[in-house]
Amino acid sequence: SFSKLHAHTPPHQGDDCQVGGIEGVKEPLVKTAMLRRPLAVIQIQDEKAGDQNWHRAAQGIRQGAHRTQGAHAAQPCHAAVQHRRPVLVLETCRLCGGDPVRALPLACGVEMIHTYSLIHDDLPCMDNDEYRRGKLTTWKAYGYDMAVLAGDALMIYAFETASKAFSMGADPAKVGRAIGILAEKTGIYGMIGGQTVDVELTGKAVPREKLDFIYRLKTGALLEASMMIGAVLAGATVEEIKEVETMASEVGLAFQIQDDILDVTSTQEELGKPVLSDEKNEKTTYVTLEGLEKAKRDVKEISDRAAGRLAGLPGKNEFLYNIIEMLVNRRN
Ligand code: IPE
Ligand code: MG
Ligand code: MG
Ligand code: MG
Repeated sequence: SFSKLHAHTPPHQGDDCQVGGIEGVKEPLVKTAMLRRPLAVIQIQDEKAGDQNWHRAAQGIRQGAHRTQGAHAAQPCHAAVQHRRPVLVLETCRLCGGDPVRALPLACGVEMIHTYSLIHDDLPCMDNDEYRRGKLTTWKAYGYDMAVLAGDALMIYAFETASKAFSMGADPAKVGRAIGILAEKTGIYGMIGGQTVDVELTGKAVPREKLDFIYRLKTGALLEASMMIGAVLAGATVEEIKEVETMASEVGLAFQIQDDILDVTSTQEELGKPVLSDEKNEKTTYVTLEGLEKAKRDVKEISDRAAGRLAGLPGKNEFLYNIIEMLVNRRN
């Protein structure tokens, strides 16, 4: 059970387990606290399975995560790793009536892809940013060459880890479909496609339709993958999966608009990454196109629409509703 897993979670990442911004949802909070550390969860699975490969994977992932988050430096991390996307995988799985434990390898895979995408996004040839999650970015701490390799390695590790789901009792056809979604949504038709257009149009005027396209892919696609994977593994119908995809796409758009808002309204301390990065890179953003006030209104409108869709889906998951709210109202 989750509480049992939680009890086994090693204490070394203490401050990561603080969950802010949700009130009145106590029991699931414990789950989130644990799920914010899916890397630790892998170790628990490992102990249960007694499988050497699992053990090696867990070790490597933890080391990789520590390196990529710059955790070697003993300074406090204000913007802790939040593991929002793996939580979405697991909670959407629960919403659709599945067993979230079976979805853990995919949830970890999603987080690894997310982390790799940020390592590469921060590179000097991309956004050229020096801080992430309150620490030096990987390229700043370990060099350009190591950051490219760390990103490459995490990307492949994601699929190695996801494939562990085959030996964890889940229906192989569903696991295969879920891994396919992970690849499609993060590859050339998804996240990387979006990043490509984003980078290509840096410093140029971007019309609203193109910006929507970039956001749908660079940010939305991975959120779509996260929620769809949970639904697929739970055995949701084609119609439900489609609805989950649309809902996640709206969450993604609201999330990225909020990212643009925070880039101009937050502080580096709160955000864990530099503010005014978009301006530095001459990026057209939702805020530069539509203005701050409209951007704020649209985050609310789009996320309300997503919440409405969630309410229309068959299962009940109050917690997921809170996660969506937390995602779009976040301060970091
Ligand atoms: C990056 O978008 C999206 C991906 C890495 C896929 P941003 O460049 O806006 O993200 P931040 O602001 O650096 O986090
Ligand atoms: Mg970028
Ligand atoms: Mg960036
Ligand atoms: Mg940004």
